[in-house]
Amino acid sequence: MLNDKRILLIITGGIAAYKSLELIRAIKKQGGSVSTILTKAAKQFVTPLSVATLAGEKAFDDLFDLNDETEIGHIELSRAADLIVVAPATADIIAKMANGMADDLATTTLLATDKPVMIAPAMNVRMWEHVATQRNVLQLHNDGIMVVGPDEGEMACGEYGPGRMAEPEAIIAAIIEALSPVDAEKPLQGKRVLITAGPTHEPIDPVRYIANRSSGRQGYALAIAAERLGAKVILISGPVNLDIPPGIEVLPVETASEMLQYAKDELPVDIAIFAAAVADWKVKNSADEKLKKQKGQDSMQMQLVQNPDILQTMAKLKTNRPQLVVGFAAETENLLENAKAKLLKKGCDMIIANDVSHETGIMGGNDNQVHIITADKVESWPKMSKQAVADRLMEYLAAMLGHGVNI
Ligand code: C5P
Repeated sequence: MLNDKRILLIITGGIAAYKSLELIRAIKKQGGSVSTILTKAAKQFVTPLSVATLAGEKAFDDLFDLNDETEIGHIELSRAADLIVVAPATADIIAKMANGMADDLATTTLLATDKPVMIAPAMNVRMWEHVATQRNVLQLHNDGIMVVGPDEGEMACGEYGPGRMAEPEAIIAAIIEALSPVDAEKPLQGKRVLITAGPTHEPIDPVRYIANRSSGRQGYALAIAAERLGAKVILISGPVNLDIPPGIEVLPVETASEMLQYAKDELPVDIAIFAAAVADWKVKNSADEKLKKQKGQDSMQMQLVQNPDILQTMAKLKTNRPQLVVGFAAETENLLENAKAKLLKKGCDMIIANDVSHETGIMGGNDNQVHIITADKVESWPKMSKQAVADRLMEYLAAMLGHGVNI
């Protein structure tokens, strides 16, 4: 419910503006109140009269309206709100917000506010996928602005792909979540956290496979830590010998391809941590029947082909990318340089690097010594148990999520 909550809805000029009328009704149905601003372009799609009628209060559309003593100023407009929602958010307003421009009432209000802001992008698929828009959305994301959608589907212009505004039900759900008080003990309440763990098994034939020595302990410890902080945890696990942690949904998989498919099927999630030791290679044509030694055979050949890189695929998703994508780097040499290069190559927000050249490593032990690498800093943590690493890391990620990506 949105009892006593006030939303400032900024409607910009896109065909999806008609859905904002539904959004106004949904906010009011939830017990909230709505003040509205229409940009000049928005008025080509919906009228101030219909917006004002549904909202039950005047719709603002011009900065100069507000200079009148009898009117409230743009600062007041944002001050009175608990949350500002820009829906639909066109490529144009996203670009203006990313650059701090303020040339009309909507952009001036957005620049002057200290309230949380949410956008629901809506535009043609090519505009959404354009590097400039992606750069601007990433900037907003890093500035702590919440982004809902866009959805993928058929567009008003006849094309297909990501760019449709999220449905009003999804936007209202995001608004309710954004305005729900955060329990200090459970900062990940209402958040979905996806974790991959363990090795993968890549079949050679029905009884043999390629595997590695990952125990899955660090990934399982992360799942327990995320659950303690209130998250809904989905643990995609390769074959391991560990107990299923209570309260956690475990999806068992064997191969890297299955792991990727399951990960995609669980989207959207807020945080995705790829702790699995995924096999880099799989057997090109694994046999359907058990391979038998032939008489006189003293060697055999197996052709290996690359597995999909799950971390990289998920970090570079154009739609539904998790807000925080975290990878691991197990290295035996040049740990920090290799980990920094991995952060860039894979497109993730954080790499947890651990040196597996000596006995601190991840492979089977109870302890771990890690370095936390983000785009702008490196933190080295002392050696501690895998559960302690997990607890500290989840607190860290919860803080990053709460403050926008940069902390
Ligand atoms: O490239 P490298 O295997 O060292 O990268 C390690 C990180 O990438 C880990 O987070 C691991 O879970 C992830 N990874 C993946 N899919 C692969 C290979 C690695 O998700 N095929």
